[in-house]
Order: sequence, then C-alpha cells, then structure tokens
Amino acid sequence: MGYDLHMKVWRGDATGGDLVEYTVPVEEGEVVLDALHRIQATQSGDLAVRWNCKAGKCGSCSTEINGRPRLACMTRLSTFEEGETVTVTPLRTFPVVRDLVTDVSYNYKVAETVPPFAPEPRPADGQYRMQQVDVERGQEFRKCIECFLCQDVCHVIRDHEENKQSFSGPRFFLRYAELEMHPLDTNDRRALAREQAGIGLCNITKCCTEVCPEGIHITDNAIIPMKERVVDRSFDPVTWLGRKIFRR
Ligand code: SF4
Ligand code: F3S
Ligand code: FES
Repeated sequence: MGYDLHMKVWRGDATGGDLVEYTVPVEEGEVVLDALHRIQATQSGDLAVRWNCKAGKCGSCSTEINGRPRLACMTRLSTFEEGETVTVTPLRTFPVVRDLVTDVSYNYKVAETVPPFAPEPRPADGQYRMQQVDVERGQEFRKCIECFLCQDVCHVIRDHEENKQSFSGPRFFLRYAELEMHPLDTNDRRALAREQAGIGLCNITKCCTEVCPEGIHITDNAIIPMKERVVDRSFDPVTWLGRKIFRR
C-alpha cells in the first residue's frame, strides 16, 4: 500500500546549503533511492544524487540517512516508521560537490599509495595450490564495493580533516591486510601501514564494521591482525637491533 513520505534532503554546494522538505508518494517495497528519484522526476529535476547499479554493488549511492552512513539503494523505506521523516544528507567526511554528491577523490589518492600485489614467480612445476583458508580470507576482503561508508564514519578523519594527510582509513587497512596476508605476495607492507597509512591512529571503535554494507569484518579480520603484525615487526628484538645497526 502506498503512502506519502515526508523527507528532508540536503540541497546546496561547496558554498553552503540547507535541508529542503519534500512530501513524496511511495510504494511498499521501495528504497530511499526510489523516493529521491521520484523527487527528481516530479518536483526537483536538478536534485543531484549519484547512483549506478541500484543493486548494492557499485558503491555510488552512499549518503547519510537519518544520520547513519548507508547505501540509498539498499535502505528500504520499511526501515522507518510510517510517518517518520527520512532525512538524507551527503557524506560528511568528504567535500560536497552538489546536493547529495560528494568528492571522494581522497580515497583514490590513498589507493595510489598502496603498493600493488607482487607475487612470487610461478613455480616451474605448476603444482602450487592455495590453501582454502587463504582463499576464503581473501574473498571476504575482496567483497569491498568501495562505497567509502567506512571511510565516512571513521572519526579519525570525520572529525579531524588534518588527519587525512596521515591516515588511510579502514577501506585501505582492508587492502593492506588483503595483500599482506596473501601467501604469494612478496612485499612487506607493515612499515608502510604504520608510517604512511597511520594504522596506529585507529582505536578500534568498530564503527567502520557496523556500517559496511558487505558485512566485512573490517576491524576483527583486517585491522586488528594488521596492527598485530605491525607491532610484531616494530618490537621484534631482531628487527629492532637491525634498525639500530642499519639506522632504518
Ligand atoms: Fe564500503 Fe565495506 Fe568496502 Fe568500506 S569495506 S568501502 S564500507 S564495502
Ligand atoms: Fe576508524 Fe574503524 Fe578504527 S571506524 S577508528 S578504522 S575501527
Ligand atoms: Fe550502486 Fe547503490 S546504486 S550501490
């Protein structure tokens, strides 16, 4: 059964903006993105909202809905009480381009700083088999759709713009972990994770894990093991002595 949904949508650009109220007819089973599209189609043709797949797989429609980072295409209207106002605002951690569209290029710049996969040469006998446990670990990490909701929610950069220079964020700790734990990778990224990616600034609030639409255990399966590896490297007496001798 359809009903009239009351919404507040942030409209504006880099110079400022405000919440604009809309009442829009919606149908049972619809999602927040449907309501935004209906506003575009019937009331405000210039409302800017980024989307692509409408299936929770492209990571484009990230917004904040009633203050929580969410995918607009995967947030059913039935999540809210009928009569409840649904407020949609742009991701707070990234600069606004227009309305609900933000400039997430910070993340692409960080991505460029992570050294790529560097596998060992393929064994001549072709007999190498990856263990199932390693396959499964990597598969969880590779579910990431780069929606950057985890980046948006992490207080280290959400509340401290200045930390963007020295903190890569949960999505990239996941990438470090994926590469670091890959049995064929030859790069040692532990020093980079600490010195360049700033993994030490993460104080394990787990907010990133809570908002991940792919259900990736970012904190438990990627960040904490990476922190342990970084600590092992930093405080291993042999490594420590080596650093002293070679001044690394
Ligand atoms: Fe999005 Fe999850 Fe990937 Fe973060 S780890 S970018 S929340 S899919
Ligand atoms: Fe941020 Fe996640 Fe750590 S939200 S503080 S990266 S546990
Ligand atoms: Fe692709 Fe929402 S439109 S994830």
